[in-house]
Amino acid sequence: MGGSFFLAKIPQQTQIPAAPFPIVIAGTLVNRKENYLTIGAFGGMSMQPPVIYIPSLKTHYTNIGIKETGYFSINLPPARLVLETDYCGLVSGWKIDKSQLFAPFYGKEKLAPMVRECPVNAVCKLKKPWIFPTMMFSSVRWWNISWMKTA
Ligand SMILES: Cc1cc2nc3c(=O)[nH]c(=O)nc-3n(C[C@H](O)[C@H](O)[C@H](O)COP(=O)(O)O)c2cc1C
Repeated sequence: MGGSFFLAKIPQQTQIPAAPFPIVIAGTLVNRKENYLTIGAFGGMSMQPPVIYIPSLKTHYTNIGIKETGYFSINLPPARLVLETDYCGLVSGWKIDKSQLFAPFYGKEKLAPMVRECPVNAVCKLKKPWIFPTMMFSSVRWWNISWMKTA
């Protein structure tokens, strides 16, 4: 088993290993206006209770809305939204209004804009911001999930 197959190992500087993390667009309301950012390393922490995290740098404009409202959405973008997803991760709400990029819809709490164009959406309630000093590590709770209608 394995035989002559051999992988050379090259030590890297300390950082998150370059694994295929799922990308999500996180949405929130800042001063009652939608803002979206791209998160490249979203992940699950617990199945029951359902808890997820997004690592969001403290300086991001989006964090203002998350702290203000206590909510944000996560939206899994389809391939055809690659340009918009990249754009959300390249420009900041501090400088550019990103509120018109998507058609938002809301859950019952009406505090986290979800992206209608994305097939999977969830509203998340902030549990704990910034466990680590350099990153906002917020554990969150699923609120609802909506699936794209196929008919
Ligand atoms: C593909 C991609 C993945 C990204 N992943 C993250 C991430 O995991 N955490 C983070 O803090 N920023 C990440 N960013 C950077 C933010 O999305 C970017 O700085 C964004 O402009 C912040 O927007 P805001 O200031 O309006 O909140 C990513 C950017 C791209 C393009």
